[in-house]
Amino acid sequence: QPARKLLVLPGDGIGPEVMREVGRVITWLEKNRGLTFEVTEDLVGGASLAEYGVPIRNEVIEKAREADAVLFGSVGDPRWSHVGFDKRPEVAILKLRQELELFANLRPAKVFDALVDASTLKPDVVRGLDIMIVRETVGGIYFGNPRGIETLADGSRRGVNTEVYTTSEIERVARVAFEMARKRSNHVCSVEKCNVMESGLLWKEVVTDLHAREFSDVTLSHMLADNCAMQLVRNPRQFDVIVTGNLFGDILSDLASMLTGSLGMLPSATLGAVQANGKSPALYEPIHGSAPDIAGQGIANPIAQILSFAMLLRYSFDLQEDAQMVEEAVSRVLESGLRTADIMSEGMARVGTSVMGEAIVRELDKLQG
Ligand code: NAD
Ligand code: IPM
Ligand code: MN
Repeated sequence: QPARKLLVLPGDGIGPEVMREVGRVITWLEKNRGLTFEVTEDLVGGASLAEYGVPIRNEVIEKAREADAVLFGSVGDPRWSHVGFDKRPEVAILKLRQELELFANLRPAKVFDALVDASTLKPDVVRGLDIMIVRETVGGIYFGNPRGIETLADGSRRGVNTEVYTTSEIERVARVAFEMARKRSNHVCSVEKCNVMESGLLWKEVVTDLHAREFSDVTLSHMLADNCAMQLVRNPRQFDVIVTGNLFGDILSDLASMLTGSLGMLPSATLGAVQANGKSPALYEPIHGSAPDIAGQGIANPIAQILSFAMLLRYSFDLQEDAQMVEEAVSRVLESGLRTADIMSEGMARVGTSVMGEAIVRELDKLQG
């Protein structure tokens, strides 16, 4: 088995703090499971701006293309909030998604039994929840043209962004959602706003057609995005797979994270199409950001980053057993009562980022026997 090539991009804020804990897990897997990883690390976001004057170097994008998988932390730094759009730290993740055509962002929201009390919703509403949001990530209003800020004749200004989706963009992400549903509870809910947007109307049509042609064994329903936000809070367990565009997916997945207890719990995988050379580019990242409000304090929850790495083991390397072990170790640590501040509740033991990471590795030891 040749070494698996990983590109690790910790980024800004809590990114490097939570990535350090993944480092422990990688070391553990190498020592105890006979796996070998060839890890290369590089700068992105504000960290790259400070060093190289750009949010991401072309060289890093090339390294990402060459790697078997990319593990991304988070980017964003208030020190760069005054700069133009092309120079913001966030460009790093947007560019990686676009250049590698990583169009399907899988964002699972699963409630650990030990954390039913951590959600702001009633335990009975979230217990056993297991949904998968499939978010389109290279199209929609994030990338549509025209875009920009222009000054009008009267001196006032106009900010413009455009929601655009083509048939093929919709079809390829919907296909991922249907295939995912077949391995789960066989239900896809497609979310748009076809009542006000033509791009939403096309979205609904294309999903409906694809379903009839290739996936009629899967149950398909449609929902308007505003209603979906409400339904996710009212009765989230009605959903299995949700497929939606870039912006709605971004918002609904942050909402879904709170069903699980914290934004610090949710991992994600962003997948592209299999290339001519047989490679499937893939990037793994927590759905949270750089959390400048708690950065540098050693209190961030590393679980979303660690679970993102478990998704990497599963999807990029088909290491199902190892992925399962990492997820089980996380679950057991939570059962044992350890909590970072964001998921803290009464009677539990509050710990920082590195104690949480260490505890997960200790559970791995026990699982290995
Ligand atoms: P955020 O996700 O960084 O933080 C939102 C809230 O959740 C904060 O109160 C934060 O402390 C908390 N939080 C997030 N992750 C946590 C963790 N692991 N443990 C404990 N608490 C956690 O969102 P924001 O504050 O709106 O954005 C901050 C910066 O991050 C912005 O620059 C934004 O653009 C960027 N961002 C980047 C990514 C990414 O790189 N993929 C994702 C989202 C936001
Ligand atoms: C996410 C983030 C990004 C997005 C930002 C940082 C560009 O919020 O990954 O959820 O909006 O896609
Ligand atoms: Mn987001």
